[in-house]
Amino acid sequence: MELRTLGNTDIRVSPVALGCWPIAGMTSPGANDEDSLATIRACFELGINHLDTAFMYGRAGESERLIARALGPRRHEMVIATKGGLHWGPDGNMAHDGSPETLRRECEESLGRLQTDRVDLLYLHAPDANVPIAESAGALKRLMDEGKTRAVGVSNFSVAQLEAFAAECPLAAFQPPYNMLRRQIEADTLPWCREHGVAVLVYWPLLKGLLAGKLGRDHVFAETDSRRKYTMFHGEHWQKNLDLIDKLRVIAEAAGHTVAELVINWTINQPGVTSTLCGAKRPDQIRETAAGTGWQLSKDQMTQIDRALAERGTPDAEAPV
Ligand SMILES: NC(=O)c1ccc[n+]([C@@H]2O[C@H](COP(=O)([O-])OP(=O)(O)OC[C@H]3O[C@@H](n4cnc5c(N)ncnc54)[C@H](OP(=O)(O)O)[C@@H]3O)[C@@H](O)[C@H]2O)c1
Repeated sequence: MELRTLGNTDIRVSPVALGCWPIAGMTSPGANDEDSLATIRACFELGINHLDTAFMYGRAGESERLIARALGPRRHEMVIATKGGLHWGPDGNMAHDGSPETLRRECEESLGRLQTDRVDLLYLHAPDANVPIAESAGALKRLMDEGKTRAVGVSNFSVAQLEAFAAECPLAAFQPPYNMLRRQIEADTLPWCREHGVAVLVYWPLLKGLLAGKLGRDHVFAETDSRRKYTMFHGEHWQKNLDLIDKLRVIAEAAGHTVAELVINWTINQPGVTSTLCGAKRPDQIRETAAGTGWQLSKDQMTQIDRALAERGTPDAEAPV
């Protein structure tokens, strides 16, 4: 697989990366250690060299622990990104803490779970309204200066927040949500990153599986499936989204590809997108998304996709956040 440069660093990442949230098992029904280890190890044979995880992926960092188990002595072959600044509070809900002390402690814990001296990329998972961005940025810069990470990134930021952060710490990467149905970044943060040489690694490229094209109209989401809570998996929105998938399937099949392959190919070829963080809990899933690379949609196919997206219309604010 081709490799792309991560912002103004000498780090190179594949345009399809493995998103390691599903293997944490918190919202993916049926995830198990055996499949998770096999999914991570499949990256070697597929040419995927980038793994995306976080301190809070799993109640006790299960995602980071599984990565360490899967890689063993081959850790140096992977560009590992983790994130700090979000954790599970005592009430079981997600909580923000971007204070310098917490970012340092979480980084140390992540390094321990990953069984490595340094990660390649350390993100602030999300801005903390109670901590000035300059303080969080300063803390991450110190961790980079100490060699605990090779580069620093941020996630879920606005342009103003990106600017405030970059004023205090060299910013290599930005991680926003982005896919065919959720394109807000094209208006502001994506152009800002292009102008400032910041890599953009997008999450939810498959919209939590919707754009993988495998879910039928009569699909019933399990009690533990996080997709239940999003309106885009229900009622009229669900039917409109599946109408779109039907149209994408016709274009994909004519091109000799699956819907997931087409969607990933479209996404990695959007100007300014460096890599797509593709979640998977089984090897066959990451194999299929990896097959979205190494070929090019024609101009005509891109036009047909644009038409199908225009007919779908822009979803309201119902996309998962
Ligand atoms: N920075 C942030 O705040 C943030 C937030 C969210 C995610 N992320 C990162 O982005 C990554 C991607 O997000 P995500 O994992 O939530 O969603 P995603 O990549 O949009 O979708 C992943 C889900 O799609 C399904 N899937 C994947 N490949 C498939 C295939 N070939 N065929 C059928 N189904 C397939 C699987 O679900 P099922 O098998 O259950 O159907 C999988 O769990 C995460 O893993 C994480 O690393 C970051």
